[in-house]
Amino acid sequence: MVGHWEEEVDGEVVIRCYDDRRDIIQMDRVEKSCEIGHDDQTLLSTDSLGDPICRIRNSLLFTMLVAEVGNKVVGSIQGSVKPVEFHDKSVRVGYVLGLRVVPQYRRRGIGSILVRKLEEWFGSHNADYAYMATQKDNEASLGLFVGKLGYNVFRNPAILVNPVNPGGSLKLPSDIGIRMLKVKEAESLYRTHVAATTEFFPDDIDSILRNRLSVGTWVAYYKNDNIGSWAMLSVWDSSKVFNLRIKKSRLSYLLLTKASKVFGTFLSLFGIRSLPDLFTPFGFYFLYGVHAEGPLSGKLVRALCEHVHNMAASDDAGARKVVVVEVDGGSNGEDDDSLGRCIPHWKMLSCDDDMWCIKPLKCEEEMNGLSEFSKMCFRLKPRSSLFVDPRDV
Ligand SMILES: CC(C)(COP(=O)(O)OP(=O)(O)OC[C@H]1O[C@@H](n2cnc3c(N)ncnc32)[C@H](O)[C@@H]1OP(=O)(O)O)[C@@H](O)C(=O)NCCC(=O)NCCS
Repeated sequence: MVGHWEEEVDGEVVIRCYDDRRDIIQMDRVEKSCEIGHDDQTLLSTDSLGDPICRIRNSLLFTMLVAEVGNKVVGSIQGSVKPVEFHDKSVRVGYVLGLRVVPQYRRRGIGSILVRKLEEWFGSHNADYAYMATQKDNEASLGLFVGKLGYNVFRNPAILVNPVNPGGSLKLPSDIGIRMLKVKEAESLYRTHVAATTEFFPDDIDSILRNRLSVGTWVAYYKNDNIGSWAMLSVWDSSKVFNLRIKKSRLSYLLLTKASKVFGTFLSLFGIRSLPDLFTPFGFYFLYGVHAEGPLSGKLVRALCEHVHNMAASDDAGARKVVVVEVDGGSNGEDDDSLGRCIPHWKMLSCDDDMWCIKPLKCEEEMNGLSEFSKMCFRLKPRSSLFVDPRDV
């Protein structure tokens, strides 16, 4: 749902709903002029495969607004609304993403207007909170959301990236069994074991698991186990909706990629994986709902990740891919190892500078005590892990 709504804000800027026929070409220009660096040395470019709303299209309720000055689109924002579990309460949250203002029109208040209009749209769909994710070094975004619009930083998850070796299969431990779950089984496991221990668990988990981008859910266990350990995760194929490409990278990565190309065959003789060329477009598998229980469950998580690697390596005739997971520290297994340590990833491609920010949207009375309650929660150390909805990636 995008809608048909338009409002002139200050005599110059018009905010209206995105219109495919009118805006698709202009949006490409806006996206290209706003490419976001992951840190000041890395620049990632997104190819939405001709569909500017590909990132929100899989949500139940979504919109995209554009800011126009004299018939020229100079900014945009996207958002979606869904019900989630938050601090043991069922609330509705609005997710803000894809905020862009072209460089020539920045610092004129257009970014703030777009966020406020989206918050109004969230309000009209009864959302209790708005939340968004950005990077620690995105001063403009933090200045706008945290400095000016009253958002609070509440989580700092790490994004772990593991390149897939096309055609290369990893050998899984022989004492571990892996089984694909039916959607009903996966939903039931998530509702009984994960909903109570994670924040932002989506109430419509079944629609995520049934989505066309959902590849499946797998569970891993020890074949001769009498200690009751198990682990599960689900896979989302983001490459069907958008691709990524590194446009600019740290010098060390650039040099290593070049060296790896030259010495690739030589390295493979010794069983060493060469560095993937991420300067040409690549897709990714997103792992979500990673959950582990029991002693030594870390090894089960690792085996599941390796299983996904092997699937991706044989998928699409070896198309370039990486596997991405977002974790926010602490383990949810009884194992001492944190999830991050069990998940295979390349440090050089991963980052720990993601910041999730949130803001209550309703006034005190309407929040029925939730607003004060949530302020208190933001100050406390998080007690459970974060469920990263693959539709928000
Ligand atoms: C972030 C972005 C949308 C801001 O748009 P904008 O129209 O310039 O924002 P506004 O004019 O409404 O700025 C509002 C406030 O945000 C803060 N801010 C904006 N740009 C800033 C910057 N470069 N450095 C520090 N603070 C900044 C300021 O507090 C500013 O208020 P002020 O101008 O009165 O000082 C724009 O810089 C952009 O498109 N960046 C690239 C894409 C991006 O990073 N998007 C955010 C992804 S989460």
